[in-house]
Amino acid sequence: MKITNKTEILNLLEQEDDIINPLGFKHNNGLLKKDMNKKINEIAGFCEQILKVVRKFDKDKEIVFLECSCGKSYLSFVLSYILEREFNTTPFFFGVDTNKELIERCEEIRSVLGYKNMTFKHGRTIDFTPDKKVDVVIALHACNTATDEAIAKGIKIGAKYIMIVPCCHGQLRSQIKSHHPLTNVTQFGLLRYKFADILTDALRSQFLLGNGYYVELLEIVSPKLTPKNILISARKIKGRNKRNLEGYYELGSMFNTNFGLQEFFQERSSNDTLVCTC
Ligand SMILES: C[S@@+](CC[C@H](N)C(=O)[O-])C[C@H]1O[C@@H](n2cnc3c(N)ncnc32)[C@H](O)[C@@H]1O
Repeated sequence: MKITNKTEILNLLEQEDDIINPLGFKHNNGLLKKDMNKKINEIAGFCEQILKVVRKFDKDKEIVFLECSCGKSYLSFVLSYILEREFNTTPFFFGVDTNKELIERCEEIRSVLGYKNMTFKHGRTIDFTPDKKVDVVIALHACNTATDEAIAKGIKIGAKYIMIVPCCHGQLRSQIKSHHPLTNVTQFGLLRYKFADILTDALRSQFLLGNGYYVELLEIVSPKLTPKNILISARKIKGRNKRNLEGYYELGSMFNTNFGLQEFFQERSSNDTLVCTC
């Protein structure tokens, strides 16, 4: 196993045209596209953390990943490449996204790379039913509440690991203007914006804790590269117990918010498609 950290992953990606070219990260003249620099760094930083988790599985196990809001599935393709090449193991990947064209693009890339260990599905994460037991749910910048769908789906299917790097956090921004103890903070637009992000990720983490997961938060890349750099990394350690959700409900009521994670565990009355605003 040669690859251990983000820098080594970046070096590998920059050198290996057989993965970087099908993903469209380079110009025809062989230079890396400048606008892909941020994405490549995010993927390398995320992969670094996922590889730590991979090492905890038996070497012979086929690790099954579900990438929610996969877009062009850069993360899954890179991960598959690294795991086969450096770890001598072939994982399986499900990718799901509401954008049909992107799912078709994933199929094209898969076919160019000749990978047979991937299935892509057009639709909402919450509606997707994998036909294999999923070990690790991953999501990089799933828009707004699509991140919550990934968390809810991971809990519902009993994934051992749920690793989420959220994107925009729109849901609470308008809800925390008044009627809570920190209105002297949230009366300022910029602070309300930042505080909504923190509160949203705290609620997500409390929800995971309450559902039997051990939760850590860490940065996958420098905040100078992107403020959307926080990984919520959760590992299942015990069963689901509604009583353990007190932290989640307490936090929600302290800020008088209506955060919807628990609603994914109720019967849905509509199937509205989310609109990406990021
Ligand atoms: C910002 S992009 C990120 C794509 C990819 N993960 C990446 O990092 O390049 C967000 C993606 O979420 C998808 N999306 C939005 N709502 C979704 C949902 N409810 N279920 C699945 N995908 C969703 C969008 O179509 C879009 O491709």
